[in-house]
Parts: sequence; C-alpha cells; structure tokens
Amino acid sequence: MPGIIERFRPYLDLPLGVDPITLSEGNTPLISMPRLASDLGAAELHIKFEGSNPTGSFKDRGMTTAITEAVSRGASAVICASTGNTAASAAAYAARAGLRCVVLLPHGGVASGKLAAAYTHGAEVVEVEGSFDQALGLARRLSERAPIGLVNSLNPYRLEGQKTAAFEITEALGGAPDWLALPVGNAGNISAYWMGYRQLADLEGGDLPHFLGVQARGSAPLVEGHVIEHPETVASAIRIGNPARGEQALTAAEESGGRIIAVPDRAILEAQRDLAHEGLWVEPASAAGLAGLRSEVEAGRLNLSGQRVVCVCTGHGLKDPQVPAEPTTLIPPNLQALEDLLKL
Ligand code: F0G
Repeated sequence: MPGIIERFRPYLDLPLGVDPITLSEGNTPLISMPRLASDLGAAELHIKFEGSNPTGSFKDRGMTTAITEAVSRGASAVICASTGNTAASAAAYAARAGLRCVVLLPHGGVASGKLAAAYTHGAEVVEVEGSFDQALGLARRLSERAPIGLVNSLNPYRLEGQKTAAFEITEALGGAPDWLALPVGNAGNISAYWMGYRQLADLEGGDLPHFLGVQARGSAPLVEGHVIEHPETVASAIRIGNPARGEQALTAAEESGGRIIAVPDRAILEAQRDLAHEGLWVEPASAAGLAGLRSEVEAGRLNLSGQRVVCVCTGHGLKDPQVPAEPTTLIPPNLQALEDLLKL
C-alpha cells in the first residue's frame, strides 16, 4: 500500500524527485458510529481512527513528509519535543531513514507505550525537568544553532503531511462533513486540517466543515486567551500551555465558522469509555473531540440535527494504558466456578 506522499503527491508542497521515507501511513478507517450519532442528535457520526497508523497516531502523516524533506536536504539528525506520539513517530521514521533522532520529553509526563516506542526505535531519549513547552523551546533553540532538523509541527512539512487526513475524509464521504471535531494541543493538527480543506475547496469547490477544536480544561490556553504555565490534564498528549501554532488554530476555527472550547477531564474519560464500549480504544486526548461535541450539544450551543459529523480520534489506546483497571475476578480452573460466577 502506498503511503500518503505517493497517494497525494500533486497536492503536497514537497521538494521534487525525492524518494518518500514511508511506513505506508494514512488510509486510516472512517468508522460509522450510529448509536453515538443518535445520542448527539446528529444524522451521522464517523470516527477517523488515526490510531491505526503505523506508530499508533496521526503524527505519522506529518513525519513521512518531514523526514523525507530532511533527507532531501542531506540532514543526518532530527530532534523534537514531545508529549509522546511525535517522539514515537519521529523515532520510527528516523530509523527508517537511518537518521540520528533525539527526543525531548517532559519528565514523568509521557505515557508508557510512547516512551517504549521511542526507545525501541533507537531514539536518544532525553527527559527535561519541565513542561512540554520548555522542552520545545530547547529543541527549537538547538535546531537554530546546530545541524539538527526540528520535526515538531513548527516544521511546515509536518502540516503538509497531516492535511492529507482531510483529503481522505472527503474522499470517503464524497464531500466535507458539516462539523469536524478534534483535540487541540500544540495546534498543528487543526491547522493542517484547515489547510487541507481549504486546498480542496480551492481546487474542486465544495463546502468547508465547521471546526470544533477541543482542549482539556486544565490545559486550555486558546480558550483562556493566555499561556498556561503549569498545564494539567489526564490527557497527557495535549498537556500543553503555549501552543506553537495557537494563532493559526484560532484563525482556522474562526474562518470555519466553528470554535475552540475546553472540556473537563471527567468528560474526556467518559467519552473514552463510551468509544471503547463501541469497540474503539483511543487514548484520552483522542476522546476530547467527542467530549467537546457532547458538551456543546448538552449546553444547547450546537444543534447537530441533520448534520454529518466527523470526529478525529488521533491516537490508539494501547499506547496509554493507564486507565483505571476494572476489577477482574480470579477463579480456580474448574467449570463449576466459572458457571457460578457467570450465573449461566
Ligand atoms: N491527540 C494526540 C493523541 C496527540 O498526541 C496530540 C499531540 C494531539 C492530539 C494534539 O495535536 O498538537 O497538533 O494540536 N501530540 C504532540 C506530541 C504534542 O508531542 O505527540 P496538536
């Protein structure tokens, strides 16, 4: 299966004539959720399940383009700051390309599966005693002084790749959805989606979706209108107090006729559980989109009647398995005990 560069090459602003560094990312499923749609009062709800990318998150779309471009420039090393998924993806694509990869992580703030992935792919993992925002500041400054390419979403090639999810959704639905809900952390992804939809509308006409960007309440700088020094949320992927592409994200939301809102952790965890009960295990941050839709509908600020809605679930639950464990039951290995337990 070709990756997103090969599939969407004419639509991507990438140096010509380079061989893609790819892991066959993209082409992720768009899964219909009729029960959750009816709870929202929407005509249709589809989940764009980005957890089925090779490293378990949407970051792979942007990493294939960023690493391909870095290789085309002759780079031999890349660096990123990360709440985890960017690190895992950078590590994998750098390994594929034979590049040295350094990842800077906020100490203690990264889910176990993401950390394990970065190590396993051979990245040099550095924990910073501070926040993601401080780690990004360091990565950025180092990349300006030393021959090491920054592959955070400040790198424009990241957005070039990530916008392809918008193309896939339009392809699958035969048009843009009415609303698109997604989590917002460093704000690259919402900016990339808007680039993708705008590009399609310019080329082929058609409607643009309204965006609902969702932050966690304890980490909601774009809602509060100022930097959050000590962001807090259970959704560690979006525990970010000073989004690098904040202005662009606010513009995207506004131009789309939508908005960026904040939801409490409780709502995020409920949405995560409800998605899991529909068969889809996503990481907490990924459930923010659904949590945001619900909170707007419940508050009477959003009427989805007759609307086609897409919710982007950005990462797989397997990478962040720190959900409160349901109690299990231990039985002796005999049938009677099992029948007694199950009351069958
Ligand atoms: N969902 C997941 C699972 C993420 O990992 C991220 C960001 C987002 C949503 C938000 O996307 O930053 O483009 O607004 N993760 C970054 C990382 C920050 O380092 O992995 P965004």
